[in-house]
Amino acid sequence: ALLGIDIGTSGCKALLIDGEGVVLASHTETYGLSQPRPGWTEQDPASWIDGARAAVAAVLAERPEAELAAVGLSGQMHGLTPLDAGHKVLRPAILWNDQRNGAECDAITERAGGIQGLLARTNNRMLVGYTGGKIIWMRDHEPDLFGRLRHVVNPKDYLRLVLTGEIATEVSDASGTGLFDTRERRWASGLLELLDLDAAILPPCHESHVVSGRVGRSGAALFGIPEGTPVVGGGGDSVIQTIGSGVITPGALQTTIGTAGIVAAALDAPVADPDGRLQVFCNVAPSKWHCMGVSLNAGGAMEWFRTMLAGFRGGEAPSAKDMAGTAANAPAGSHGLVFLPYLNGERCPHPDPSARGGFVGLTARHAAADMARSLMEGVTHSLFDIYRLMEAAGIGRSIIKASGGGARSTLWRQMQADLFGCDVVTTDGAAEGGAFGAALVAGVGVGVWADAVEAAKSCRAVTRETPDAAGAAAMREAFAIYAGLYDDLSGAFS
Ligand code: XUL
Repeated sequence: ALLGIDIGTSGCKALLIDGEGVVLASHTETYGLSQPRPGWTEQDPASWIDGARAAVAAVLAERPEAELAAVGLSGQMHGLTPLDAGHKVLRPAILWNDQRNGAECDAITERAGGIQGLLARTNNRMLVGYTGGKIIWMRDHEPDLFGRLRHVVNPKDYLRLVLTGEIATEVSDASGTGLFDTRERRWASGLLELLDLDAAILPPCHESHVVSGRVGRSGAALFGIPEGTPVVGGGGDSVIQTIGSGVITPGALQTTIGTAGIVAAALDAPVADPDGRLQVFCNVAPSKWHCMGVSLNAGGAMEWFRTMLAGFRGGEAPSAKDMAGTAANAPAGSHGLVFLPYLNGERCPHPDPSARGGFVGLTARHAAADMARSLMEGVTHSLFDIYRLMEAAGIGRSIIKASGGGARSTLWRQMQADLFGCDVVTTDGAAEGGAFGAALVAGVGVGVWADAVEAAKSCRAVTRETPDAAGAAAMREAFAIYAGLYDDLSGAFS
């Protein structure tokens, strides 16, 4: 069996699969996150280890007969885990959604000669979420701790250290530091020099399927995994979950409607995005790249609407299923009502923290069904709006693999089929997220599959929606209105 472990933001998932990619056992152990100041999000790395130990113990107890061939790791990206010379954690990890380092990202961008200078060095902007700005923040604000800093690792690579004793990373998570040249698949040494950062603090970086260590004696004692079990690199969650949906060759897109929305594609060459609004990372297979755009408002917009409605219903929120049921009573296009989902500002396609949401085109004849439907349509529009940047960069779409909680809704999948104009499928392992992808990459690392393309074949489609002509016409008409509204209204947002 192959073991995948995902260090998520709200919990750790461990999962066992067999050599056919069939899930044998899965367990998630939740943990918390601290917000010591507004906009700051931190986690104690010890909670990842405790969560991983409990999750691994649960799946091994469920399948005591499983012989582990390899372990693969996945995790939340961009999290700064600072270590001293003895590998002790210096301060709580600063997470991907922490907003403290805007000024440092601006300073890095300026140092690099603007966005174009950064794109030339890394093929990416320095987003506030990325690790690079967090390192500079620590240097500027916690100089004593920074003086003791010797290693910077991502969350899943901290787990690797505890499991194997090795400090190492792989190309997909390295991409998310903003300090990695994703075209050349190596650390951007020129940028490190410009920022006066010692390259030695960054881990050795391998391709994702490479066995970069083996479970050591203390790892074996802590996790109950046999000493010597190979541990492959794995990948950052948003990247490695694409292979878990079967997306590894160009043409297929993965859409995720979680709290945030993601549109992702696998590429055979690193696309050049003219203004860096897309994230262009190394994929978890050699000579493959990953392109994605992340919207900050997808399933979260539905959560907001439900919670808001509870205010009218004496504290009882309608379920997401009820909401979709109500939405299904309105026709495609929601009688001309258009929802802008920018409730938390936006990242892609509009990198604008001050963007704001709205229902536009309300009339007295609109009913609850129209509002519910236009909300779901607005989220779908925002995914297509991201895809338009990809289309302009030459990325095609032959099929969509839908994932995230929103993929459970047939209506939401049908909206995607109608607007994107291609079939939308869900696949069996996709619901398991990064842990499933990590188990597949572990299998590649130890020869269960010849390569990632072979591994991805074990992802089987379980549902399929095909475009409906009338729905498609209505969605395209609504999208044409949606697509102009951000520019029309951005002057009114402040
Ligand atoms: C990717 C990103 C998130 C994190 C959280 O750029 O910010 O998907 O990886 O899981």
